[in-house]
Amino acid sequence: MSLTQDELKAKVGRAAVAYVEPGTVVGVGTGSTAAHFIAGLAAMSEPVAGAVSSSEESTRLLREAGIPVLDANEVERLDVYVDGADEVDPRGYLLKGGGGALTREKITAALADTFVCVVDSSKEVDVLGDFGLPVEVVPMAAGAITRRFAAGLLGTAGEARLRRGEDGEPYVTDNGQHILDVHGLAIADPLAFEDEVNSWPGVVTVGVFAHQKATVALVGDASGVRTITY
Ligand code: A5P
Repeated sequence: MSLTQDELKAKVGRAAVAYVEPGTVVGVGTGSTAAHFIAGLAAMSEPVAGAVSSSEESTRLLREAGIPVLDANEVERLDVYVDGADEVDPRGYLLKGGGGALTREKITAALADTFVCVVDSSKEVDVLGDFGLPVEVVPMAAGAITRRFAAGLLGTAGEARLRRGEDGEPYVTDNGQHILDVHGLAIADPLAFEDEVNSWPGVVTVGVFAHQKATVALVGDASGVRTITY
């Protein structure tokens, strides 16, 4: 019997607990796969000392699980950060931000020595971009950034659309900013792409995680959990 996507996410989320030393502070990502990881942390026989959280939503889940949440400024570094992704390419470069938490995710990932990325196999791609690239922006820069994506960069171009909530109003991030989802891109050189978009005024965070790529990916598919080290 084949497993559902959520069952695959649960498998990899739980498997990531093996990378966490009891008594340490762990970085925690956002999304449905990260939520399974939090459930796994809560079930550890010897608990972690605490977590640095990448979103209000994960903070809520961590607190419900009885895991202390530390401010990122209280730690100098983390051994491990565990998070999902919207796309992972063969080099471990990631596209993230479907859940809107990309800025705090990138900050937390940058504190960690090891980034364990937990995904089901539907997230594996040859080239990043198909999902639609989330870019957190300062609202007054949205028009200019939209025109830059339409004009193109590094051999690709895309149509940026302002993300909206269910009420039709612009989606507001945990940091009080907006998100553009850019469609039609094919990101052949994630490092150069991330550097270029980061240089545009008003970009808070681009959802390409090239400088903060995965160290290891746990990929769930019909045969179980595959471990890929980059
Ligand atoms: C959150 O902003 C994203 O970067 C998530 O990591 C990504 O959307 C994966 O989410 P799921 O684990 O829910 O698929």
